[in-house]
Amino acid sequence: MSHTLNIYEPLSIEAIRAEFPILQTLVYGNPLVYLDNAATTQKPLSVLEAMDVYYKTINANVHRGVHHLSQVATDAFEEARRKVASYINAAHDHEIIFTRGTTEGINLVASVFGRANLKAGDEVLITAMEHHSNIVPWQLACEYYGAKLKVIPFSERGELDMDAFAALIKGPVKILSFTYVSNSLGTINPVNEMIHAAHERGIVVLLDAAQAVQHIPIDVQELDVDFLVFSSHKIYGPTGLGVLYGKEALLNKLPPYQGGGEMIRTVSFEKTTYNDLPFKFEAGTPDIAGAIGLGAALDYVNSIGIDRIKLAEEALMEYAQEMMSGVPGIRFVGEAANKAGVISFLLGNHHPFDVGEILDKQGIAVRTGHHCCQPVMDRLGIPGTVRASFSVYNTPEDVDRLVKGLEKTAKMLG
Ligand SMILES: Cc1ncc(COP(=O)(O)O)c(C=O)c1O
Repeated sequence: MSHTLNIYEPLSIEAIRAEFPILQTLVYGNPLVYLDNAATTQKPLSVLEAMDVYYKTINANVHRGVHHLSQVATDAFEEARRKVASYINAAHDHEIIFTRGTTEGINLVASVFGRANLKAGDEVLITAMEHHSNIVPWQLACEYYGAKLKVIPFSERGELDMDAFAALIKGPVKILSFTYVSNSLGTINPVNEMIHAAHERGIVVLLDAAQAVQHIPIDVQELDVDFLVFSSHKIYGPTGLGVLYGKEALLNKLPPYQGGGEMIRTVSFEKTTYNDLPFKFEAGTPDIAGAIGLGAALDYVNSIGIDRIKLAEEALMEYAQEMMSGVPGIRFVGEAANKAGVISFLLGNHHPFDVGEILDKQGIAVRTGHHCCQPVMDRLGIPGTVRASFSVYNTPEDVDRLVKGLEKTAKMLG
């Protein structure tokens, strides 16, 4: 498995791991094996330091003050926006809206796109493998405006039924909202094909990149996607912050989401006018330290290179899949041809919680349950899965510990 490590040359995996102090933690006396990266990634020192420096040396509110600190804080905040724009290759910095996370980004679009465009008889198209945060906001919007939610099914292997998609996209669909990578199955969906098919019919597309942005290079102009959302905490940045990218022309046409400071140009009791992008969608004091932290996280990813991270993770996933196949009673859930980041599985007929608990006692952190994808579990007729998810600092030794842990678990549970 040494080829995985070479991908990072001249960096070593040890140097990468040294950036993440939490990886030194002992759990029940065992060195931590952190394989819950799809839930949230750990943070490198550079991110922690950037946020610390902000609070220690330049803390002030942004866009509001003429004083020195406010200007320095504003510059740092706007620099973070530029880093995000550059990371996903947005055409303009003002197409980047800071949100609280993927969930808020989808709620924002469902709310304002719904208000501007949805009416009785319209359809919203999603897939059956969405995270709850890409289901419920659309259910709320559909309920409110009398539109219908349509769902693209997926196969037993965890691949979207593209014939069903081709039929459903011909309906009165106003927006297609779907995940780039499934957080419960690991499937990488055929985004180019789907965006192209939607655009041929004038349908707007929102892409949930919460599980993609940390594994796959993303170029929003090449994808030609209309909206894209992700969370900072899944790409080595802090919690509480996310990104909504939207094409300028579309964002300009939409009404504001929340009202408050910053999003206005003028306020009177008779009539309020709204600010330009991106501020129109950023009511109130933003998470300034969070944005600076995300900027540092993207610098960190760029310092290694997302292409190299992708290659290393692919090799590690392949190794994991191979090694885990030898564990008695293992059954993989989600065997799509194209996968990223996530291996979901079951061990015999044992409940995922029991497996997760025994792994935890050995210092191995995995996630168990429905992963906020109850319809995925219903479709597959299972209560949930055990999910191992990978990131830049995981090693073949982590996989070996997982495999040993699973063998022990299988024996203990009988
Ligand atoms: C595919 C997907 N979409 C949306 C979300 C929600 O992200 P957040 O809780 O950061 O808003 C997640 C989180 O696991 C996810 O995996």
